[in-house]
Amino acid sequence: DKGGWSSFMAKEISEEPDAVANTIRGRVEGGQVVIPELAGLDELFVDINRIVIIACGTAAYAGTVGTYAIERWAGIPVTVELSHEFRYRDPVIDARTLVISVSQSGETMDTLMAVRFASESGAKTLSICNTQGATIARESDAVVYTHAGPEVAVASTKAFTAQITALYLFGLHLARVRGTQTPEFLASQVEELQAVPDKIASILGASEKIAQLAHWMADSRAVLFLGRHVGYPIALEGALKLKELAYIHAEGFAGGELKHGPIALIEPGQPVFVVVPSPRGSAILHPKVISTIEEIRARGARVIAIAEQGDAAVLPSADEVIPIPLAGPLFEPLLAVIPLHIFAMELATAKGLDVDQPRNLAKSVTVE
Ligand code: F6R
Repeated sequence: DKGGWSSFMAKEISEEPDAVANTIRGRVEGGQVVIPELAGLDELFVDINRIVIIACGTAAYAGTVGTYAIERWAGIPVTVELSHEFRYRDPVIDARTLVISVSQSGETMDTLMAVRFASESGAKTLSICNTQGATIARESDAVVYTHAGPEVAVASTKAFTAQITALYLFGLHLARVRGTQTPEFLASQVEELQAVPDKIASILGASEKIAQLAHWMADSRAVLFLGRHVGYPIALEGALKLKELAYIHAEGFAGGELKHGPIALIEPGQPVFVVVPSPRGSAILHPKVISTIEEIRARGARVIAIAEQGDAAVLPSADEVIPIPLAGPLFEPLLAVIPLHIFAMELATAKGLDVDQPRNLAKSVTVE
C-alpha cells in the first residue's frame, strides 16, 4: 500500500527519518550505544584486528561510509569490498578478521556466497540486514537488524540510511568495548546520530527546489557527482540512483581524483553535483572542494552544490545550492544523500518512467 504516495519510492524516501530513528531505538543506554544483539561478544571485539565489509550496490556504498566512521571511532583497520570480488580472489582473512555483510534483502547471492566463504576461512561474520530471518542473517555469527521496514521500490533508499545508521551504531559499540574513545566523546556522537531524523525531515520539507531542478535537467545526457571523504560514497550513490531510475549516464568521482583524468569530461553545460563538506567540521577539505568547484566552473560545468546551510564560500561559486542542516562531519552523508534520492526519483518521474520498477532490475538478486 502506497499510503497516498505516488510511488513506493516516494513513500520510502518520506520514511527515511523513521528508518534511522527505528534503527537507533533500543540500542542506546545512558548515552552510550549498547546493541543487545551483540551482548556476549565483547571478548571477540577486543580480539579482532581487522574488519572487512562486504556488500553490493547501494549497500556497498553504505559500507564505504561505515569504514570512515568505524576506523575513526574504534581505531581498527576497516576495508570495504564488493562481495563478488572478495569471494573470487584469494583474500587473506583469519579468525581475527570480522567480516560484516550489509544487505537489505539478506538474500543477495553474491553476498551470501562471500559470507559462506568468510565462515569457511575461519573469520567471524556479522550481518547487517533489513529482512528478519533472511538467509544471510541466519548464516552469520551475529546479526544487527536495520529497522527500516519493508522496502518495496527496487531502488534502495530508506534501507541505505538505515544501513549507515546500523554501521555507526556498531562503530560506537565497538569503540566503547575496545575503549578507544572517552565516554564523553562517544556520548556526543550518539547525540549527533539521534539528531539525524529531524534533520532529514527538514530536508524532505524543502524538496520542491530539488524537484524543480530535476525537471529542468530531464534532458541531460550525463550527470557527474563529486565528493570527498564520506561525501565520496554519497556521490557514488547519487550516480547509481540516477542510472538505475532515469537511465542517464551518471558517474561518481572522488573529488581529489578529478585532476587525474575525469576533468577531461568537463565541457560547457555539464551538470556536476558536488557534495561539500562542512567548513567547520572539515577545515582542511572544505577549501579543497571549493577550489574544485571553481576549477570545473571555469571549464563551463554547471555546479549543483549540496552544502551546509549558510556556507558562505559555496554561495558565490556554485550555480545552485541545496542546503542541508548543520551536522558533524561523519553525519553529513545521512543528510546529503536525501536530496540525491529525491533528485533521481523526480528526474525519472519527469521522464515518465516507472520509479518503482526500473527496467532490467529485480529487488533481490538471488543469482550470482
Ligand atoms: C540500488 C540497489 C542495489 C542493492 C544491491 C544489494 O538502489 O537497490 O544496488 O543495493 O543489489 O541488495 P541487498 O542490500 O538486498 O543485498
